[in-house]
Amino acid sequence: VGAALADGPLKGKHILVTSGPTHEPIDPVRYIANRSSGSQGTAIAEALSALGAAVTFVTGPADAERPRGVHVIEVQTAREMLEAVGSALPADAAVFAAAVADWRVASASDKKMKKDGSGTLPTLDFAENPDILATVSQMGDGRPALVVGFAAETHDVIAHATAKRDRKGCDWIVANDVSPETGIMGGSENAVTLISDAGSEDWPRMGKVEVARKLAARIAEALA
Ligand code: CTP
Ligand code: CA
Repeated sequence: VGAALADGPLKGKHILVTSGPTHEPIDPVRYIANRSSGSQGTAIAEALSALGAAVTFVTGPADAERPRGVHVIEVQTAREMLEAVGSALPADAAVFAAAVADWRVASASDKKMKKDGSGTLPTLDFAENPDILATVSQMGDGRPALVVGFAAETHDVIAHATAKRDRKGCDWIVANDVSPETGIMGGSENAVTLISDAGSEDWPRMGKVEVARKLAARIAEALA
């Protein structure tokens, strides 16, 4: 596919995509993570590549198969993801589809934590992870011309997503309702609203692959 469409509208453009969860260790055998299959991010990377873009795909440990024809960088933690993103820049556009863990365990144990037999429960101290989307959105020199974030919400979707766009400084937010009853989490379909300077635009519910193709086409228009 990549070779056949290497002359597509994104030929000569470099686009960065983050995807999947991050895993934040508690100890060598336990971690904290968000639910994320990585399927939407993977579909976006493949759709951008199919339009001729050179894609760098920075992914946490996701179940989804890795996209073909793109440069894949595997990471575990949010801090590793930030470092990989930094090393992959400059890019013409960046799409942040990863479900980054907001907090990590402040001092992960290098040995497996054991029950001590007394019934005493462990406690975890958290530290906030860097916000990768906000960091890239607020870069001065070297900021990608188009920065796209996601907002997975369970309530007040548009209000939360619009506030997120303002707070982080990205150009577009792809918002979706991931309440369990929508079946979107872990499913093959997505129902999103694209929020930009131009306002908000509801896309009908469609396959994640179709969402990816539509988003890639919009990105191509914006970069043209
Ligand atoms: N994101 C990121 N780095 C983080 C947290 C989030 O790059 N540490 C990105 C996600 O990839 C997504 C966007 O920011 O594109 C929104 O993520 P989300 O979790 O919805 O936003 P938060 O700011 O973390 O707010 P909250 O989880 O409290 O709703
Ligand atoms: Ca979050």
